[in-house]
Amino acid sequence: MNATGTNVGAVASAPAAIAAPGGYVASLDAARPADAASEPASVDLTTVEQGPIEVETRRIRADEALLLRSLRLLALTDAPRAFSGCVGDELTVPASGWDRRAIDCATRQDDYVAIVSRYGTPCGLARAYAPATEAYRRELAAMWIAPWARGIGAGDALVEAAVAWSREVGAREVTLWVNLDNAAARRLYERHGFAVDGEPSGDPGDERRWLRMTQVLTGVERAGGAARDGAPDAVARERW
Ligand SMILES: CC(C)(COP(=O)(O)OP(=O)(O)OC[C@H]1O[C@@H](n2cnc3c(N)ncnc32)[C@H](O)[C@@H]1OP(=O)(O)O)[C@@H](O)C(=O)NCCC(=O)NCCS
Repeated sequence: MNATGTNVGAVASAPAAIAAPGGYVASLDAARPADAASEPASVDLTTVEQGPIEVETRRIRADEALLLRSLRLLALTDAPRAFSGCVGDELTVPASGWDRRAIDCATRQDDYVAIVSRYGTPCGLARAYAPATEAYRRELAAMWIAPWARGIGAGDALVEAAVAWSREVGAREVTLWVNLDNAAARRLYERHGFAVDGEPSGDPGDERRWLRMTQVLTGVERAGGAARDGAPDAVARERW
């Protein structure tokens, strides 16, 4: 596996039935944005052509709003406790909002989404974006792997892709927030050099408490010298 391009675990022949379970996609059919009259409700992942590579990551493309929306809604439906956002809020985002997100995440220096696929079928996503006013930092968020693609290195591939991109745009650290109870995610992040950074939010007994984890990126060089503010066009991005 490598951090940028990212062919992982190439196999001679892909198994015949690796396509995403249709149920996940079908369950989103009622969730069409109001202004998406002529669009399909979601991406039918079962029609994606099967590829030979087991796990590969790439940056989302500007024209993949529908894929972004499908994966995000699947994530929030599958693992609501893992995220601060909720599916109800995302359902109110119009199609034009998803278009904007896809374009930004495909093209900007302060927003990025990596898509991971298993045998060519998208099975997860992660976002890295510039939060608040701290342009030197990127926040890793929205990390999700479909249940049918867990435990095979897809999470590793996404973390590597997001950290590699953060380096490329000159960020000095990557932070994230993880549910205190989310042992699987915490182990994943620890494996990739993230360390707990401060006390968890909230009080013992609260239903959800968040732990901040940080990875300091060493040896990051920026064009024009040691600019303290990170990537040149970094502005605070919408949190989702
Ligand atoms: C957290 C998550 C991204 C990890 O993805 P992954 O690619 O499966 O990561 P890993 O392969 O490192 O597996 C993580 C753990 O899942 C468990 N696991 C392994 N195979 C599994 C499978 N087939 N199905 C379910 N869980 C499995 C293991 O306990 C593993 O822990 P380990 O460190 O002891 O090996 C994924 O589980 C997920 O999307 N969870 C729901 C959303 C979420 O929690 N997002 C993080 C928000 S901060």
